[in-house]
Amino acid sequence: MAEIVIVGNAEEAGELVADAVVALIARKPDAVLGLATGSTPLAVYSALAARAGSLDLGRVSGFALDEYVGLPADHPQSYRSVITREVVEPLGLDPERIHVPNGSTGSIQSAGVEYERAIVAAGGIDLQLLGVGTDGHIGFNEPGSSFASLTRVKTLTEQTRRDNARFFGSPDEVPMHCITQGLGTILRAEHLVLLAFGEGKADAVAASVEGPLAARMPGSAIQLHPHATVVLDEAAASRLALTEYYRYAWANKPDWQGI
Ligand code: F6R
Repeated sequence: MAEIVIVGNAEEAGELVADAVVALIARKPDAVLGLATGSTPLAVYSALAARAGSLDLGRVSGFALDEYVGLPADHPQSYRSVITREVVEPLGLDPERIHVPNGSTGSIQSAGVEYERAIVAAGGIDLQLLGVGTDGHIGFNEPGSSFASLTRVKTLTEQTRRDNARFFGSPDEVPMHCITQGLGTILRAEHLVLLAFGEGKADAVAASVEGPLAARMPGSAIQLHPHATVVLDEAAASRLALTEYYRYAWANKPDWQGI
């Protein structure tokens, strides 16, 4: 089962996960990071940006989880733009080493296979950051996604389009389709770090962490991974059944172990 860490707030989570990223880069300067977009990972990126001056990130590469299909790459809400603005620039990463699935309609047929090849060529993802949707999606693997799926085009649920309307003018402006790493792609990463904050995520978190393995709850795929860490605030953890045990295990964890 995943290790569950319950922290006071998103900032604390950001520092904790930034520590793990820093430790990874110290032992592997050419580390490959799996980059999530959306609101959840921002605390991690700002904690890392604050430390960027003392880190050598020149050989780090990154792979975004997903991209909208049909948005021009320079649209402010394309995940290419978001990753550039929120990760590449603040951390001073080499843009040449940062990959985002190609969501342009002209090359969409081959974009999934090419992305999988690029991940393999980079040696695989060392640490994959994940958020979770209110419907349980990870990446944009909506309910019903195969646990073996690889990078491919998916149709966003109406719920996800409503949730993401805050980045656009209205739900109608949120693209209908996306290209996303599959659950099978995500499960190949060495270490999964899923973060969730707020009451709105509590049901998806409880179902993903403690519910049955089910394609209808894509987040439950993390139960199949040998090294998965779930970092939550109190509200996101509020519907878990085994919180006492998670707190007890965390409080008694040897310092040297990290997450
Ligand atoms: C983003 C992604 C999604 C988000 C999820 C939660 O790259 O893959 O799974 O992590 O939709 O979004 P936020 O963090 O905005 O609540």
